[in-house]
Amino acid sequence: MRVILLAALLLVLAACGGSTGGSETTQTRAPTGTTGIPAASEGRAVFTDNCSGCHTLKAAGSTGNVGPDLDDLKPGEATVKNQVIHGGGGMPAFKGKLSPAQITAVASYVSKSAGQ
Ligand code: HEC
Repeated sequence: MRVILLAALLLVLAACGGSTGGSETTQTRAPTGTTGIPAASEGRAVFTDNCSGCHTLKAAGSTGNVGPDLDDLKPGEATVKNQVIHGGGGMPAFKGKLSPAQITAVASYVSKSAGQ
């Protein structure tokens, strides 16, 4: 349900952004998808809200250094997913805090944008 609301909100924001301009100035490059699927932007939002304090990921503009630099690590999607669900080594588990869809979105986002 929250995911649906979030997706709807993103659509509304996207629709409003073009008309007046200037409301969305932080986007520096187009999302990976060409069809406007919200997955990439949702993954970025999940990352910014939950991971940026501890991890560096240039694509998300984060410089946290509690955990490993994800641009250096370039983890695969399965690695990110596993680590986010279970945590460990000082990182909290996000199972129950993030929905499975959010975990999939952030894992996909990190694995695709790390090192870029
Ligand atoms: C409180 C700080 C903290 C937060 C918040 C945090 N991490 Fe981590 N993360 C760590 C630490 C510390 C490690 C190193 C764990 C280890 O060495 O075993 C780590 C490791 C990782 C790894 C490497 C796993 C591996 O197998 O090499 C990935 C990928 C990762 N985190 C992704 C994320 C994502 C995505 C989020 C947000 C959902 C997140 N982290 C939130 C601290 C954090």
